[in-house]
Amino acid sequence: MKEKEKEKDKNKTLGEALASPEKKQAFVMEMFNRIAKRYDLMNTILTFGLDRRWRKKALRALGQSLVLNQSLNQAPGKSSSEDYGDTNKNKTKTPVVADFACGTSDFIINGDFILRNKKVGGRSSEKNKFSDISLEGLNFVGVDFSKNMLEIAKTRIEKRAWKKKRGGETKQQPKINADLICADLLKLPIANKSFDGAVMGFALRNLTDIDAALVEIGRTLKSGAILCLLEVGIPKKHIIKFLHRLYFGQVVPLIGGMLSDKKAYKYLPQSVEFLPTEEELKAGLERAGFFNVMTRPMTFNSGTLTTAIMQKT
Ligand SMILES: C[S@@+](CC[C@H](N)C(=O)[O-])C[C@H]1O[C@@H](n2cnc3c(N)ncnc32)[C@H](O)[C@@H]1O
Repeated sequence: MKEKEKEKDKNKTLGEALASPEKKQAFVMEMFNRIAKRYDLMNTILTFGLDRRWRKKALRALGQSLVLNQSLNQAPGKSSSEDYGDTNKNKTKTPVVADFACGTSDFIINGDFILRNKKVGGRSSEKNKFSDISLEGLNFVGVDFSKNMLEIAKTRIEKRAWKKKRGGETKQQPKINADLICADLLKLPIANKSFDGAVMGFALRNLTDIDAALVEIGRTLKSGAILCLLEVGIPKKHIIKFLHRLYFGQVVPLIGGMLSDKKAYKYLPQSVEFLPTEEELKAGLERAGFFNVMTRPMTFNSGTLTTAIMQKT
């Protein structure tokens, strides 16, 4: 389908609110501000916790790349402490990881736990060269343009006391090092080559210019840094595709409307129309300076994880 016709079609389905990039941007920002309070609850209910499993996969890909770069002595260049106000001098080699469109900071909270306390390689049964490795520390920078989503992210990160009972003992976990920035992904107030790695979850379809955002994100990554993009997908097998469409087209707007916001949960399933195809995303990433682009389907392709490495310059 030609570009213009495709655009017209999207507008027809999603209405006047998304008729121009400016309108879409304002609609998306306002919508996330509105649903922020119930966003996490709705995510868990509507995805049956699948998003957590997918996040883990993205975080492991990120962790393995960070470890590999560390061992090759490539990744941690300039001190994260200088960049983001952490005065702890022992942390000069701590990787700095961006969570673009961080929302309520699920990636940051899970990332801190999974990458620091667990083995980067995953379950101990999965024997691979990363099985014994954990990252000692991480500094996160979360970026999002929704003030209300960031407000919740801030509270969650601060509250995280990480008490775990082991043999009756209560263990206090270390504080999460994270800075949150309220900004548009198309105009990041961040210096070139700041990050050792980055994740972005479920945001592509909400952007008004995916190519421009990838260029802007790429600018902030160091050479060799990994970008992990998590997105929803559309199952390919007929019966699963049918059930998926029924669930996201009918059930999600119904439950979302009852428990949160009718307009938002009507938009969210429809917004998959804005997703680039695998080929379009790969081309966009390559134009933005990434290489080694790989997409893997998850749970019958209802989720996808795309990883790409920033070129050396
Ligand atoms: C579906 S939520 C995903 C949140 C989080 N990444 C997660 O995995 O739960 C999409 C987020 O993208 C943010 N967003 C959308 N467009 C943006 C833009 N142009 N700049 C910054 N943030 C944006 C929204 O505010 C929202 O928090």
